Amino acid sequence: MTSRPDKEDPSTLAFPTQAVHAGNRTDGGSGAIRQPIVMANSYALPEDPSSLSWSATDVPLYTRNSGANQIALQEKLAALDKGEDAVVLASGVAALHAVFFTFLSSGDHVVVGDVTYEATFRLFSELLPQKYGIEATFVDSSDVASVAAAVRENTVLVHVEAIANPTTKVTDIAAIARVAHEAGVLLSVDSTFTPPPMYRPLADGADLVVHSLTKYINGHGDAMGGAVIGSSALIGRIKNDAMVDVGGVISPFNAWLISRGSITLPLRLNQQTSSAATIARFLDNDPRVAFVAYPGLASHPQHQVAARQFDGRFGAMMSFAIDADSDTHNAFVANLRVITSAVSLGHDESLIVHVGTEGARVARYPDAFRTFGHLRFSVGLEDPADLIADLSAALDLTFPSTS
Ligand SMILES: Cc1ncc(COP(=O)(O)O)c(C=O)c1O
Repeated sequence: MTSRPDKEDPSTLAFPTQAVHAGNRTDGGSGAIRQPIVMANSYALPEDPSSLSWSATDVPLYTRNSGANQIALQEKLAALDKGEDAVVLASGVAALHAVFFTFLSSGDHVVVGDVTYEATFRLFSELLPQKYGIEATFVDSSDVASVAAAVRENTVLVHVEAIANPTTKVTDIAAIARVAHEAGVLLSVDSTFTPPPMYRPLADGADLVVHSLTKYINGHGDAMGGAVIGSSALIGRIKNDAMVDVGGVISPFNAWLISRGSITLPLRLNQQTSSAATIARFLDNDPRVAFVAYPGLASHPQHQVAARQFDGRFGAMMSFAIDADSDTHNAFVANLRVITSAVSLGHDESLIVHVGTEGARVARYPDAFRTFGHLRFSVGLEDPADLIADLSAALDLTFPSTS
């Protein structure tokens, strides 16, 4: 069987071409032009394995270290985010934990954005301080001076979300990278809301970028995964410490699904971003809507930073509230017929979730988010006219006197 010639160096290719080809290879055994799913835990050893490290991550040995589908996905994600290397794990939270586990020790201090995904908040507000004596200061990451002021002698990491879940607060990554590097500390950026090609935090000076692959990069709502991308040195440490010896690895099947889903990432992101802009304007113009938080609206507090940083693309995540109490928010969601009430985001299907007002994390949100809760809305691939019609009909049913 003749095999195809080696693929072009992915770094020379445009993003949509990389999304198709990076990490894919002709299967040496079957000649299949697509990387097959390799459902094997172990790989054939060389004749003399006695000098082999059982923890090696650079040779196919054992699926916890280096499975074929995991390696293919790592290559692809490194190319898409323009990093030297990537590590993929079983979920976005496993990827976040891998960063914190690898680079933090007892007595270290971390500066964390005050709006983050729930697990990040709990890790830094409870679990890591209580179990390991790691200190964290939560700061308004949109205020560069506050971040700089929070850095201490024992700070080793600044961790922020490029667009924060769920308030959509935007952080100026280049400015925060300067602060972190002047202090000699690492910057990790959770870029789950802003996948490439919309944004590549490494190009703005971040040391590590984290994605929940479960969201936009897979995009089809059928697999979980997480990734960290960065320099070979930093990713090598994560592989050695958090992947091989903690073991939250991705399954071959999920790695394969995510490799396949990511092929259409640029197309999906374009469509979802364009629909989100139209829908955000529609909601913003409706008097029954109390507020809309979407970085593409001029009213968003970090609109200017977002416009510059994301080069005019604002993503497809927004939060809004209707001008009514909590029960009425639930009634509004129940009145939707196309948009699905479910957690998660970045799927093909539009997803909405009513986030309540309870909890320490929510206490840090702006007042408007805490009055009756808010609706976090992930705009999907449906026709935007159908989504607007769905929102409009639900508003009319929820506010009968105004329709
Ligand atoms: C910003 C962000 N980071 C990380 C995660 C965690 O990802 P996963 O659910 O894949 O563990 C999520 C999940 O919603 C998220 O929104």
